[in-house]
Amino acid sequence: MARLDVTEIFHGISFPGHLHTQDSLQHALKFLFQDMDVLIVSYPKSGTTWMQEIVTLISSRGDPHVSQTTPNWTRAPWLEQYYCADLLKSSTSTPRVLTTHLPHDLLGPALQESKARIIYVSRNPKDVLVSFYHFHKMANFLPDAGSFPEFLHHFLEGTLHFGSWFDHIKGWTSQAAALNLLHVTYEEMSTDLHRTINKVSSFLQRPLLEHELNNCVKHCSFSRMKDNKMINYSLIPDEILDHSKGCFMRKGEIGDWRNMFTEEQNRYFDTAFKSKMQDCILKFKFLLEKLYNVTAAGKEILLLLFFHTLM
Ligand code: A3P
Repeated sequence: MARLDVTEIFHGISFPGHLHTQDSLQHALKFLFQDMDVLIVSYPKSGTTWMQEIVTLISSRGDPHVSQTTPNWTRAPWLEQYYCADLLKSSTSTPRVLTTHLPHDLLGPALQESKARIIYVSRNPKDVLVSFYHFHKMANFLPDAGSFPEFLHHFLEGTLHFGSWFDHIKGWTSQAAALNLLHVTYEEMSTDLHRTINKVSSFLQRPLLEHELNNCVKHCSFSRMKDNKMINYSLIPDEILDHSKGCFMRKGEIGDWRNMFTEEQNRYFDTAFKSKMQDCILKFKFLLEKLYNVTAAGKEILLLLFFHTLM
């Protein structure tokens, strides 16, 4: 299934036709969730793959065998992608781990009354935007990214593939109380991976021994994942993901947006953010954190990070 130039428009949202069909999208909306299911939900570039690796490692109590032998899209398939239904038919693994980028508006009805465990992963939208922009350059199944200012505009308008970041986060988090949902941020994974894995393992009711937890932390570090072909997307052929134009495991940092945004673009973003998030139940705290890092030479260097937390 190549269909690299095909776009599927479904309920007003564009999806890459390479991975989605009207049938596969429709199938997701009618999916019969089981109470044991684990569903990872995110807007693209928020740390989805990282959470897939975390959940895999928690399930195997820190043993990397599965994460080093099975591609992430097989062990945690995207519900709305065309291969998912057949894959689930032939899979015997429990609990089923599924992934989705669908907004709550679309998937909510299928989850009503469900006790499936949902892990919602979010990330500072400025970093999401920059990561998505770079990904567009290498992904031949996504439209041309255009210039960075154009891309920024489309992100704020919600006209990129997979729809609006704003609608996505507001939709899912506003329904959190009615769902069995744990909200995890990319920033907390980045600043305290040990604590975050512990939190996810408790939510999944898979408590880990300290050495198992430490093994999880070790195997889902950025450097380990970058070298693991079952998770770094290097198995995808060049005509689909042009590896000469970038790496899926690109930088893995908080605050990379500061290398792309001009001051004017930042103001444009902040104004749109304020207006679009007015009705959001989450309180965002944008902090300029000053972190000191001691270099090998013993000198302190100042790192400025733009960091958001949920209160
Ligand atoms: P960057 O492009 O900023 O590097 P998704 O899986 O939702 O598509 O998100 C991809 C982003 O998550 C990429 O961000 C990728 O590098 C980052 N990422 C994946 N695994 C990571 C890890 N172990 N540590 C830090 N960042 C990670």
